[in-house]
Amino acid sequence: MEIPQRLLDSMAEKGWAYSDEILDPLDLQRLQQLARHRLTTDSFRPAQVASGRAPKIRSDSLLWLDPSHPQESWIFNILEAWRQNLTQFYFVSAPEIEAHMTHYSPGQFYDLHCDQPQGQETRIFTFIVYLHDEWQSHFGGELSIYSGPQGHEVERIEPRPGRVVFFKSREIWHQVRETHFHRISLTGWFRHP
Ligand code: OGA
Ligand code: MN
Repeated sequence: MEIPQRLLDSMAEKGWAYSDEILDPLDLQRLQQLARHRLTTDSFRPAQVASGRAPKIRSDSLLWLDPSHPQESWIFNILEAWRQNLTQFYFVSAPEIEAHMTHYSPGQFYDLHCDQPQGQETRIFTFIVYLHDEWQSHFGGELSIYSGPQGHEVERIEPRPGRVVFFKSREIWHQVRETHFHRISLTGWFRHP
């Protein structure tokens, strides 16, 4: 589904936005099935930061997705529609899509950061879709948005299943608070090569 105007306006105003309505429930089910399948076949690998593995900064595991993989290409069709909405609205170029699934086990987190690996400014927009089957407030694991690297928290977003979050990758500092339950997402970027 298209990104509604209200969401694009919110992105323009604050730099981030989220919605529980833009992912088709059937697509959510298919994504959840794929995530479950890949988790049970142990396809996820420990996440890294620019300098390598850093479990004190982030401790989740991830699985990169491949647009040429027969079981994954349909995901890129959904992402492509969102990519077109965002780049046309902002009149910016971000021709590539990079996507992975992530899994945070209880006790895992991702410290305050900005999505710019090695200081490269190639990532323009970040998207996140939450894929666990259920979520309750006491599970923790919120996505916190900060006003800057030394700033204060400006919003705390609960990772409800099917919720889609977008933000401007270059500007928005954020963290994943420690989760107390299995937390699964589809995350990635619309970016320059
Ligand atoms: C990331 C990230 C946020 C989330 O993977 O870079 O910040 O809510 N994820 O999973
Ligand atoms: Mn991030």
